[in-house]
Amino acid sequence: MFALDLPADNLLYLVLYLVTLMLHVVAMNYVVGGAMVVAGATVYRVVGNYCDATRSIVAVIKDWLPLALGVTITLGVAPILFIQLLYKHAFYTANLLLFHRWMAILPVLIIAFYLLYLQKSAWIERRSQLVRALVALGVLAMFLFVAWSWSENHLLSLASQQEWTEHYAAGRMWYETPETLPRLLLWMIGSLSTLSVLVAWQLRGSASSTTVRRLALVGLSGAVGSVLAAGWYWAALPEAVRTAIAEPANLSLVIGGGVGLAVFVAAWVQMARSGRMPAMLLWLATGGMAIAIPCATLLREVRRYVALVEVGHWQPAVEATQDSAQLGGFGVFLLFFVLNAAAIAWVLRRVAQQLQHNA
Ligand code: HEM
Repeated sequence: MFALDLPADNLLYLVLYLVTLMLHVVAMNYVVGGAMVVAGATVYRVVGNYCDATRSIVAVIKDWLPLALGVTITLGVAPILFIQLLYKHAFYTANLLLFHRWMAILPVLIIAFYLLYLQKSAWIERRSQLVRALVALGVLAMFLFVAWSWSENHLLSLASQQEWTEHYAAGRMWYETPETLPRLLLWMIGSLSTLSVLVAWQLRGSASSTTVRRLALVGLSGAVGSVLAAGWYWAALPEAVRTAIAEPANLSLVIGGGVGLAVFVAAWVQMARSGRMPAMLLWLATGGMAIAIPCATLLREVRRYVALVEVGHWQPAVEATQDSAQLGGFGVFLLFFVLNAAAIAWVLRRVAQQLQHNA
């Protein structure tokens, strides 16, 4: 496992990067999976009516999507800081090469934010089913664009100097590889699994047996779909990456991820059978995801490591991170950490007081 050979400073930044990225991934899964469910249900509503169970799932997701998007974006900031410390050269070269395409993420996210509020407004309730479906599809398309941009940027950041030069000389704004589609599909379909658990916790007190089965369908589709997408992705991976993944330490991550997914599936199958969501089974499904997500995130880093070694960008990145670690600034970091933590605690307290006052 490449990480174990890293100097202590680099390892610390890598761990911080991975932990904060996982938090971003969980929130992003709610946003992407939620937009998929809402769009699917709203489009279906154009031709037919859906049951109370689907209505309750769609209602809670619609209600929480704006907040979830805010959380996703906020939780993206920490990993973007750590990625600069770890892989600055590769990351920023990809950013610069994609240029306007990359920056388009910002206006797209701003429009998506407004559409999410529109989607839960009383105004849209008075519009036709077709208009509602178009808004839901618009939201989904925007999130797919953002997710695709991150995957494309990531893959471009792993390319060689020669590929970067060719990309720039050709004036291209898109970077296509055989990995892009299966990789994106894996992220998108996998998000349904995380979503199912999060919504299950939200609806736990009120879910009917049909609601439980609908949620199980969402979660199990996510699990089965991710296995199929992972199979496709495996076929599209460069030979060197497949060889690295077959090494015992990395293989244990594949097995760990598989075990996590199996626990998740077993818990949802049991809940679908009984039509109930007892805390023990819900914790099992949550635990399954809590194993699968870190394993997948670590494997994702193995893919990056193999590529950067191959193109000669790994060692310079390790050295640059060590240089950055010597620059100091820990005191300033701590000061702002304390100030921000105090500000957040104050806001939470004010909200809690206001809620108590209103109750
Ligand atoms: C709805 C909005 C967003 C979606 C759907 C989304 C989706 C994704 C996806 C799919 C990936 C993984 C890409 C891959 O491995 O192929 C990713 C990675 C990442 N995202 Fe987000 N993201 C969103 C917003 C943001 C924002 C606003 C930030 C920064 C403030 C951010 C920061 C990151 C970082 C740092 C990574 C890791 C990049 C890397 O390692 O190359 N994300 N995001």
